[in-house]
Amino acid sequence: MLLFKAAQLLLFSIPVYADMNKTGSLCTVTPSGGKDDSPAIMDAFKQCGKNGQIEITEGDFTIAKVMDVLDLQNCDISIKGKLTWNDDIQYWLRNSISVTYAQRSTAWRLGGTNFSMRGHGKALFFGNGQKWYDQNRNQGNQAGRPISLTLWKANNVFIDGITWRQPQFWHTFVAHSQNITMTNLDMNATSNSQWNTVNTDGTDTWNSKDITIKNWVVTCGDDCISIKGNSTNVYVKNVTCYESGAMCIGSLGNPATTPDYVDNVVFEDITAIHSSNAAWIKTYPGTGHVRNITFRNINFRDVNQPIYISPCIYSYSNCDSSRLKISDVTWENITGTSRYNVAAGIHCSGAAPCTGLKFSGIDIKPKNGGEAKFLCSNMNKDSGLQCTGSCPGNHPQQLNGNV
Ligand SMILES: *[C@@H]1O[C@H](CO)[C@@H](O)[C@H](O)[C@H]1NC(C)=O
Ligand SMILES: *[C@@H]1O[C@H](CO)[C@@H](O)[C@H](O)[C@H]1NC(C)=O
Ligand SMILES: *[C@@H]1O[C@H](CO)[C@@H](O)[C@H](O)[C@H]1NC(C)=O
Ligand SMILES: *[C@@H]1O[C@H](CO)[C@@H](O)[C@H](O)[C@H]1NC(C)=O
Ligand SMILES: *[C@@H]1O[C@H](CO)[C@@H](O)[C@H](O)[C@H]1NC(C)=O
Ligand SMILES: *[C@@H]1O[C@H](CO)[C@@H](O)[C@H](O)[C@H]1NC(C)=O
Ligand SMILES: *[C@@H]1O[C@H](CO)[C@@H](O)[C@H](O)[C@H]1NC(C)=O
Ligand SMILES: *[C@@H]1O[C@H](CO)[C@@H](O)[C@H](O)[C@H]1NC(C)=O
Repeated sequence: MLLFKAAQLLLFSIPVYADMNKTGSLCTVTPSGGKDDSPAIMDAFKQCGKNGQIEITEGDFTIAKVMDVLDLQNCDISIKGKLTWNDDIQYWLRNSISVTYAQRSTAWRLGGTNFSMRGHGKALFFGNGQKWYDQNRNQGNQAGRPISLTLWKANNVFIDGITWRQPQFWHTFVAHSQNITMTNLDMNATSNSQWNTVNTDGTDTWNSKDITIKNWVVTCGDDCISIKGNSTNVYVKNVTCYESGAMCIGSLGNPATTPDYVDNVVFEDITAIHSSNAAWIKTYPGTGHVRNITFRNINFRDVNQPIYISPCIYSYSNCDSSRLKISDVTWENITGTSRYNVAAGIHCSGAAPCTGLKFSGIDIKPKNGGEAKFLCSNMNKDSGLQCTGSCPGNHPQQLNGNV
């Protein structure tokens, strides 16, 4: 009897996760069947994150704790199961990992050099987002509301074939990273209640360079692909966005004392359906620059205001004092229907007028017929755009009807 007790005690005191096993350099994680699977996954990262492989098998995994892994090196991660982040909102609000940018935080942070995460079209990340959308009640940027997946100080990374449903906040964030390729991702945040999802962006890049985004389908209720400060060499191709802000540079320039630079971005072969904007740039009245951007082959349907530039987003004040210079931006082959009679609202800052804007192959028709307006202020005259009128600084990002 005593012996039996001792054996039992021993069994429970050894911190071995029955659902993680290591064979050579391969760590395999299988579902525990309802318990928190994050300790087993973290154990796999610890034991096989360097010069190894991690296999998260098919099945249902529960994630009840933050996962912070910053030292991956030469590691291939394969995921075939469904990972569900639990809905203990109080836990996540207290424990989400800071990602510095605008006091945002994340549930899962990955960093290191030379790693891949392949989902084989099978991995499903379920964030229990509806709980977040309902408690958030349309408030923007709730502190502690976690980004699903953040690449942080990550170099040479390949991510492929993952599906997200109902993420808690942004689907993905790329920060302080270089040479990141993310292909074949399928994202959908859709609220089924009276409350909007709010801030369920597809991805945001920040302080990063050499990023490729290809073959995504995103439904998100906020910015689809958003390029934030200090992003360089970003290539986005073949992305379809529903209910989103589509292709966006910004927001930039906040705080005004910190310069934000965005250089060399190409968006091509993009489809936007029922979105707020399509190919646009938003900044606060700040400092820095946006330079050498191409929006090419963008087709859309029912977009509130397809082409838009604001130097004073959200406050619509001090619009002409922004020194965040926008130059060398090309819109080429931009076609589709606008929701109202405005195809473009472009107000550049009086203190730093836009230069080198170029437009060609612009064919935008209001969905209910009539002619579209192209409103422009403080930009180069040789852009190729037939401006039909001027655009005031307080011209809104979203319209409520014809102007
Ligand atoms: C351990 O992992 C291997 C795959 O490497 C698998 O075949 C085996 O069933 C696993 N064992 C347990 C006990 O989970
Ligand atoms: C990453 O991979 C590259 C190319 O294979 C290799 O040269 C480099 O040493 C690797 N870096 C690390 C930290 O292992
Ligand atoms: C960039 O990352 C990819 C993995 O996506 C890797 O194959 C390639 O070698 C990296 N390039 C450089 C220059 O390190
Ligand atoms: C996204 O999910 C909503 C709700 O389930 C669904 O109605 C919509 O069709 C989905 N979007 C796409 C592109 O599949
Ligand atoms: C574009 O992306 C979609 C969605 O991932 C994919 O089905 C399609 O094959 C891609 N098209 C091309 C030309 O690669
Ligand atoms: C962007 O880069 C500049 C120059 O390196 C730096 O001064 C600034 O702090 C960076 N901005 C952010 C938001 O990190
Ligand atoms: C502009 O960006 C494109 C695409 O990223 C790049 O190929 C080109 O070299 C850049 N031009 C300049 C002047 O930096
Ligand atoms: C213009 O873009 C559409 C997709 O929106 C594409 O089908 C078409 O081939 C492009 N035209 C040219 C001349 O590149």
